[in-house]
Amino acid sequence: MTSHAIQAGILGVGSYTPEKVLANKDIEKLVDTNDEWITTRTGIKERRIAGNDQVASDLGIEAGLAALKDAGINAMDVDLIIVATSTPDMHYPSTACIIQDKLGCKKAGAFDLAAACTGFVYAAVVAEQFIKAGTYKNVLVIGTEVYSRVVDWEDRSTCILFGDGAGAAVFGPVAGDKGFKATTLGSEGSGGDMLTLPCSGSRIPFGETESVNARAVVQMQGREVYKFAVRVMEEGTEEVLEKAGLAKDDIDLVVPHQANIRIIEHYAKKMKLPMEKIVANVDKYGNTSAASVPLALDEAYKQGRIKSGDNLLLLGFGAGLTWGAAVIKWA
Ligand SMILES: CC(C)(COP(=O)(O)OP(=O)(O)OC[C@H]1O[C@@H](n2cnc3c(N)ncnc32)[C@H](O)[C@@H]1OP(=O)(O)O)[C@@H](O)C(=O)NCCC(=O)NCCS
Repeated sequence: MTSHAIQAGILGVGSYTPEKVLANKDIEKLVDTNDEWITTRTGIKERRIAGNDQVASDLGIEAGLAALKDAGINAMDVDLIIVATSTPDMHYPSTACIIQDKLGCKKAGAFDLAAACTGFVYAAVVAEQFIKAGTYKNVLVIGTEVYSRVVDWEDRSTCILFGDGAGAAVFGPVAGDKGFKATTLGSEGSGGDMLTLPCSGSRIPFGETESVNARAVVQMQGREVYKFAVRVMEEGTEEVLEKAGLAKDDIDLVVPHQANIRIIEHYAKKMKLPMEKIVANVDKYGNTSAASVPLALDEAYKQGRIKSGDNLLLLGFGAGLTWGAAVIKWA
């Protein structure tokens, strides 16, 4: 018999970003752009770039280790690892299995989850199911990305936006009224063409290297994605608050996907939320896709912006198209 009384929550968080900083001024040397344009249109000032020898699993391991330490648990205590990424080391072995091995999580199951920039929120919701069903106790969720390897550094409309990084959280049972209050996941596959990374899958045969190379980069209809983002952030918030039986004012901190400060400010204005209640670090890291929410969460936590009993709203959106929201009371 499984218990339905188990509440899942966050036991620890961590993050990692590579040392190399690529400022807007540096990008001016690569494409026809300038710091002023990038800052005004996106709020991004700089982003991190993985070292030549670093891949997604390397970044994820660092973030995962930090989250385990914060949670006060050992690698052997981990029951399941879910890695949200669109830039895995390779198709298989999964990045989750590579991390499982290197962290020494010998008792854990492991798989990758593909929901692009919404990946961490999707993975968090999956983790919650295993915990509240009583199947697993400690689930390590990692969002890790090396987008610098999949953007076209000659395309000024996309290369300015993305960055590399990783964030992680350990989910597990929590006491009292803490933990997940409500979640919602959404998809709109009809809009999939707006944001694609059409590489190395079954649609483009592996033998056709030339065409693969030509298309193995992010392709995006920026304006359409922008409109989608502001719509689903608002809809996702309304839906998850209603499910949780909470009012907007009950939310202490919103941790949204970091794609563009204008999207975040638009959301704040529409929801009539002060910017102090919203985490924004897109200026330092750009869009780190599945890593962005846990990276922002970890930063807010380290800055002392989160205390026990606070209601957090995690908000994700991205390719698929996908979106997701989760209200979590901080343990
Ligand atoms: C990408 C984005 C910043 C572009 O901003 P925008 O205001 O929509 O700008 P547009 O694409 O309409 O381009 C406006 C002009 O700037 C130019 N431009 C585009 N990128 C530029 C750059 N890096 N530097 C200078 N000029 C640039 C365009 O060529 C265009 O010129 P034109 O008017 O002569 O044709 C914005 O659409 C956006 O953030 N969209 C959402 C993207 C996103 O979040 N993606 C990830 C989701 S998970």
